[in-house]
Amino acid sequence: MRRVSVFGATGSIGQSTLDLIGRAPEAYHVVALTGGRNVKNLAEDARRLNAEIAVTGYDACLPALKEALAGSGIEAAAGEQALLEAADRPTDWTMSAIFGAAGLAPGLRSLRHGGTLALANKESLVTAGPLLLSEAAKHGAKVLPVDSEHSAVFQALVGEDIAHVERVIITASGGALRSWPKEKLATATVADASAHPNWDMGQRITIDSASMFNKAMELIEAKEFFGFRPDQIEVLVHPQSLVHALVGFNDGALMAHVGPSDMRHAIGYALNWPERAHLPVERLDLAKIGQLDFSAPDFERWPALTLAHHVMERGGLSGTIFNAAKETALDLFIAGEIGFQDMARLVERVLQKFWAEEPSATNGHNNAVIPLENTLEYDQIARIRAREIAPELTAG
Ligand SMILES: NC(=O)c1ccc[n+]([C@@H]2O[C@H](COP(=O)([O-])OP(=O)(O)OC[C@H]3O[C@@H](n4cnc5c(N)ncnc54)[C@H](OP(=O)(O)O)[C@@H]3O)[C@@H](O)[C@H]2O)c1
Repeated sequence: MRRVSVFGATGSIGQSTLDLIGRAPEAYHVVALTGGRNVKNLAEDARRLNAEIAVTGYDACLPALKEALAGSGIEAAAGEQALLEAADRPTDWTMSAIFGAAGLAPGLRSLRHGGTLALANKESLVTAGPLLLSEAAKHGAKVLPVDSEHSAVFQALVGEDIAHVERVIITASGGALRSWPKEKLATATVADASAHPNWDMGQRITIDSASMFNKAMELIEAKEFFGFRPDQIEVLVHPQSLVHALVGFNDGALMAHVGPSDMRHAIGYALNWPERAHLPVERLDLAKIGQLDFSAPDFERWPALTLAHHVMERGGLSGTIFNAAKETALDLFIAGEIGFQDMARLVERVLQKFWAEEPSATNGHNNAVIPLENTLEYDQIARIRAREIAPELTAG
């Protein structure tokens, strides 16, 4: 039996992961399941899959979790330290699917026991890519990408020499607002930005798709994970979300990965790697689909993409600041405190402030390993700066 843990088990990726694990309960021993506020689901899944321990990220949720697990023999715990202790329990395979920078520390910690980390939490690579990969190398752990685009690139690279890669193209659906005229974007509400045309995902990533911040994060993620130069990584708008990525080689070949818009494909690939196993996802009928469309991204419409390129060129703590400012901007948009387009304006202002005031921390240190304490410190400062700057945007 493989020992597995799922961090962020109550979320969209977490639930898809448990769906796959739950189809073959005889193959897995579930060590830890973690969630946030949704303790009811967390306890139900822990009972159903007979987990050793269920952990909520929030202390205030512990009484409810304990009550929901009463009589089951399953341990209950809460808080950041408890998440780290859960990550200390040895596993063969761990899913990192907490949303946001909160997923970084538990994922890093799980690398210590040298198993496989299936990384859905893109913030880990954007915030602390060199640290995460060096920790994995130090402990002999394997990191596998779960973002569909990066899983697609990973699959296209099997058996290939990465030195032969000229470029990598990751696709973007364009999100919920892709057909909106540019002038109307300023009026987009949370509900408008939360209705993704193709993917069924959590609300935050769905809004990030509409603003293209999700793709911006993925550009940085591709640079960090595979080590490509920023100028090798491109975005292509593909409304059907069936071609997830393409890898261009030095002989002119483009290897495209085509698959259903169902995260269970990428999760299942990481779960079964290096084997392929049967997965309960749709088999595409390309004759029925008939047409696949592609177009270049509009960088004026989606300034997040340009910001990502600046962040990739700069390196250092720029990714940490970018992600923290982005998460804060998203919180403020969801709370109705800033507009849809203010999110990119705010992230740009925060980055510019750091670039002007702290050039040595945010420049010229590509691939340097920055300790977790420094990373978390800058993450916190960037969030504070973003909240300080935000009122200036709405004041005009
Ligand atoms: N959804 C997708 O299709 C998709 C695709 C590619 C990559 N990703 C990435 O995968 C990650 C998860 O995305 P998602 O869409 O699954 O997110 P989601 O549906 O919002 O779920 C997030 C999970 O994290 C938990 N969580 C949130 N804040 C936490 C905290 N402070 N401490 C502990 N747990 C916390 C949530 O708990 P509660 O819900 O119980 O509060 C939930 O289990 C993100 O990094 C995202 O970018 C997602």
